[in-house]
Amino acid sequence: MPDHLLIVCPLLPALMEELERDYICHRLWEAEDPTALLARIAPDIRAIATTGSVGANAALMDALPKLEIIANFGVGVDKVDLDHAGAKGIAVTNTPDVLTDDVADLAMALITCVARGIVAADRYVRAGRWPQEGERPLTRAVGAATIGIVGMGRIGKAVARRAEAAGARIAYTSRTTKPDLPYPFVADLIELARASDYLVLCAPGGEETHHLVDAPVIDALGPEGALINIGRGSLVDEAALTAALIDGRLAGAGLDVFEKEPALTPGLTDLESVVLLPHIGSATQETRRAMGDLVAANLAAHFAGRALPTPVV
Ligand code: 8YV
Repeated sequence: MPDHLLIVCPLLPALMEELERDYICHRLWEAEDPTALLARIAPDIRAIATTGSVGANAALMDALPKLEIIANFGVGVDKVDLDHAGAKGIAVTNTPDVLTDDVADLAMALITCVARGIVAADRYVRAGRWPQEGERPLTRAVGAATIGIVGMGRIGKAVARRAEAAGARIAYTSRTTKPDLPYPFVADLIELARASDYLVLCAPGGEETHHLVDAPVIDALGPEGALINIGRGSLVDEAALTAALIDGRLAGAGLDVFEKEPALTPGLTDLESVVLLPHIGSATQETRRAMGDLVAANLAAHFAGRALPTPVV
C-alpha cells in the first residue's frame, strides 16, 4: 500500500506526476475546507511537500500529529517554522547546491543590467527613440566596481567567483568570516555598504535577517550605489529602498525578490533605475528538475529508512 503525502501547494508538474505515481497524494490548496481535509487525513500523513514561498507553519504541523518530514522545494526554509519542527522531531529537507549557479548567474545579470542600463536601453530602442535621440548616456563598468556580498554561503561564493571573473573587487560580510576566501571580510554592514558600488544580498530570510538593509544601510550605499537582491524580500525595508530610489539617494536596484511578493511597493515600477524580476533565480528547466528530483529523493529516503540526502541542519 503506498504511503500518503500531503502536498501543500502546486509543485513542478513533473514532480507532481512522480509523487502522484509513488504516493497517495492529498492537495491542500484545492481543498474547499482545508481544516476538514487535515482532520480527515491526519492519521495517515507522515510527510508533506511544500515550496520555499509557502513553507509550513506551526499550526499545520500541529494538525498532523504523525508528521515526520517536511520536504521543501527550494533552498530557503524561512517559511518553515524550523524551531517548531525541531521541537516536534520533524525532519526538514531543502534543495541546496543544485540552484546555486542559476541564482548566481541571475545576480550577475542584475548587476550587469543595472550597471549598463540594459533594460532601460531596451525600452528606448523599442519605443523608437534611437533614430531621433541618438546615443544613450554613458553607463558604469562592472569591472571597475566594488561588489559587497551580504551572506557568503554557497550562493554568495558563486556570485563572488563570477564578479571576480568580471574584474570587480569583492568584499563581504557574513555570520562568520571565511578565512579560506581571498576577499576582505567587513563585519559592519554599513561599512561594507559605504565601500560598495553594488551590495548583493545572498543571505537567507527569517527573523534574524529581517530588514537587515534599512535606511542607514541604503544611505551608506549612497547615490552612486545600487542594491541587488536575489536572497529574500524580507532582508530589505522596501519602503525605505523605494523612497531612496525616488529621491535619487540610491542610484539603482536589481530585485528578484520582494517583501510582500508578488505585491510590490507602490512607486517601484515607475522607476527607470530599477530592474524588477518575478522571483526567477532558480527558474530554469534544468534546475527546477534537479530541485524536484531532490524533493522526491528526500521523501523516498525517509520512507525507506535511509539517510536524508539534503536535511536542513
Ligand atoms: C524557489 C527559492 O523559487 O530556493 C529558494 O529558496 O526562493 C526559489 O528557488 C522557491 O523555493 C519556490 O517556491
